[in-house]
Amino acid sequence: MDAPHDIPAAGGFPPGAMAAGPADTAALGARAAGLLRGGEVLLLHGGLGAGKTCFVQGLCAGLGVEAEVVSPTFTLVNSYDGRLRVHHLDFYRLDDRSDLDDIGLPDLLDEVVDGTAVLAAEWPGPLLPALGNLPFLELLAVAGPGGAGREWRLRGRPAPATAWQDLFRPGGPPC
Ligand SMILES: Nc1ncnc2c1ncn2[C@@H]1O[C@H](COP(=O)(O)OP(=O)(O)OP(=O)(O)O)[C@@H](O)[C@H]1O
Ligand SMILES: [Mg+2]
Repeated sequence: MDAPHDIPAAGGFPPGAMAAGPADTAALGARAAGLLRGGEVLLLHGGLGAGKTCFVQGLCAGLGVEAEVVSPTFTLVNSYDGRLRVHHLDFYRLDDRSDLDDIGLPDLLDEVVDGTAVLAAEWPGPLLPALGNLPFLELLAVAGPGGAGREWRLRGRPAPATAWQDLFRPGGPPC
């Protein structure tokens, strides 16, 4: 599963939370931000236009990032400072693995390990070999019933904490 454009099968995830539109996707990201302690790796799966960047925009807003959050499709990584540092990666256009060194991936991972940063990676296949034994959360956005909205599914290594599972449960988190 480390080819750049592989997307894991939805059946490998439990059912997820519905996001009716972009605002819901961003709101889910903002709520996820509230669960971040530093040191998390988020692997964001979903086809082109699934809403991965939109989710990270909400995540960054939830962390108090004031800068505009734009897709790192061409830069491979954009970094933001909020309550935690966020490294937003997108490997869709990665064509040479040496680029992974060019973006300073080992340094980014050091910040994750010491708990000062979180990593959110779109099209994360090329990142997987570099993660070693680091824990990660995997999010998958799929089209909702009838193609409307998106369903956001979650799994992780190890299994996500209860608060994460609650957030991504069908029907959303309990009140
Ligand atoms: N829940 C949703 N329902 C419908 N549209 C959505 C939803 N969430 C986000 N979108 C819209 O989908 C479009 C693509 O979003 P976004 O750029 O975040 O996708 P992406 O997964 O990052 O794509 P890429 O793989 O090209 O980077 C945007 O117009 C966004 O507003
Ligand atoms: Mg994107």
